[in-house]
Amino acid sequence: MPLGIPSSAVARGPRVHLRPPRASDERGLLRVARRSRVLHRPWVSTPTTPSAYATWLEGAAAPNRVRLLLCRNDGGEIAGYFALNEIVRGALQSAYLGYWANAACAGQGLMGEGLRILVRHAFRALRLHRLEANIQPDNAASIGLVRSCGFAREGFSPRYLKVAGRWADHDRWALTIEAWRARPPC
Ligand SMILES: CC(C)(COP(=O)(O)OP(=O)(O)OC[C@H]1O[C@@H](n2cnc3c(N)ncnc32)[C@H](O)[C@@H]1OP(=O)(O)O)[C@@H](O)C(=O)NCCC(=O)NCCS
Repeated sequence: MPLGIPSSAVARGPRVHLRPPRASDERGLLRVARRSRVLHRPWVSTPTTPSAYATWLEGAAAPNRVRLLLCRNDGGEIAGYFALNEIVRGALQSAYLGYWANAACAGQGLMGEGLRILVRHAFRALRLHRLEANIQPDNAASIGLVRSCGFAREGFSPRYLKVAGRWADHDRWALTIEAWRARPPC
């Protein structure tokens, strides 16, 4: 294992790796959430108190969910977060994608690298067939991120999800293992 990457890492890239969150991440994650409030606020909610973190960590252990921190290989700083939610097995083999960046690390291509290694992990190790991301049409950064990894826009869902207390329209973006395999390696 290269220096700086913990043995708990489930996926590795040149600059970042993905690993499960742990109780000792509380301070670091709350600090990132606090400092990233402006970036996150209109789109996602992140734990901002120790008790919210405890609930969030407990939720990370659910059998139909995978929560992973994206950390720099060099130093271990939390650069972002990815979730595979509502994993359904059987004939679907699908999951819903969630994510956010640490504002201090945003715009450096780390989330793009993180999404690429997450997708590889989801299709290879977790044997999923389809990943779906529902994104508000004016969230340009989020659309740019999934587009950069080969997700295609499948449709529009009016009043799809309650975000910050209001039902918000979303576009449905998805990637299947077949589309992923057909892409040139990146
Ligand atoms: C969405 C988010 C994770 C992107 O993080 P980031 O650090 O900017 O991502 P990266 O720097 O790794 O860029 C990844 C890709 O997205 C593209 N991108 C980033 N911001 C963009 C923007 N505003 N417009 C268009 N494309 C953009 C980049 O160009 C890159 O594509 P490329 O590899 O083809 O150049 C970040 O903006 C964020 O945390 N937003 C708030 C939370 C959120 O919206 N979560 C998703 C809810 S659906």
